[in-house]
Amino acid sequence: MATQQKVHKNILVISGDGIGPEVTRWGREVLQAIAQKYEHDFHFEEGLMGHVAIEATGNPLPDETLQKAQQSDAILFGAIGHPKYDQDPHLPVRPEQGLLRIRKELGLYANLRPIKLFDELLAASSIRPEVLQGADILFFRELTGDVYFGEKKKAEDGSWASDLMIYHRYEVERIARKAFEAARKRRRKLCSVDKANVLESSRLWRAVVQRLSADYPDVECTHMFVDNAAMQLIRDPRQFDVIVTANLFGDILTDEASQIAGSMGMLASASIGDGTGLYEPIHGSAPDIAGKGIANPLASILSVALMLQIGFGLQEEADAVIRAVDQTLKAGYRTLDIADKHTPNHMIVGTDAMGQQVIQRL
Ligand code: IPM
Ligand code: MG
Repeated sequence: MATQQKVHKNILVISGDGIGPEVTRWGREVLQAIAQKYEHDFHFEEGLMGHVAIEATGNPLPDETLQKAQQSDAILFGAIGHPKYDQDPHLPVRPEQGLLRIRKELGLYANLRPIKLFDELLAASSIRPEVLQGADILFFRELTGDVYFGEKKKAEDGSWASDLMIYHRYEVERIARKAFEAARKRRRKLCSVDKANVLESSRLWRAVVQRLSADYPDVECTHMFVDNAAMQLIRDPRQFDVIVTANLFGDILTDEASQIAGSMGMLASASIGDGTGLYEPIHGSAPDIAGKGIANPLASILSVALMLQIGFGLQEEADAVIRAVDQTLKAGYRTLDIADKHTPNHMIVGTDAMGQQVIQRL
């Protein structure tokens, strides 16, 4: 500890909707505990985004929040979404617009989603333990292109609607480079997932990745169609090291892959570009359990580990967080989503008790 530099960081906390505030609280507490233990100086600001921001200002991403985001060193984000909008798909102002806009404005084109099972959670997954054991995948999901940001059109009479799936060469190149570089530091395998047998944008994607692979002769680069990848992930997840894929495919595949980590409640992600990064659980606002105090705070806490590691370069601190989570699980503490009915010595706890347990072990 004494050899480490004291760092000063400004962190914007955007708790958002649903279970966002309940779980993000613990991400922040963990940051505070780390600051204390390693004598860093973390300064926190708060910002509104999503449904809560619409209610307060009419805007899912108020200018004030965006400004604070641009000035911060990192953003800890919870979740957004509200059932009200899902039941009425025609509402013009929607919480998700806030998240999509902040990704675009901050240039967060790479979404890293590490999928790794804590041994203690082998039984929590719906996949057989012998298939899962040892699986360790790092997803690079492209985050600012694709149908998410392509032109949207609809007929005035409501008879058709369309979303443009578009990729530019530079968009594929920059995410693929990040993925190749990450693969270099891991098991040197990169699988690029596309739908090049059908889609022009995927054929561009594949050609760009293929060309780049010449710069990384030490990385084994393969290509897989997305339908096959969806199946292979469940059939034999250990075959994958790093996966790079487009925005929509990555959105879907990483929800699926969360089962490899036991539960959505465990998965953290880092959205990065060339400046400030945003760190968030991959789970959504989970309105069905919001306010009940039963949500799993570990994805938020593990997002903090990613912030420490990727955002601030504080590897030792990041490892300490992961170790604390691991020890909490080893001690038998479980939120409902990762509870295993067949193991009698598990203690089912709520959000706050789980957060406390992790803090204690820091
Ligand atoms: C995610 C979420 C978002 C997405 C939604 C909330 C817009 O599902 O981060 O994976 O589709 O990107
Ligand atoms: Mg998603």
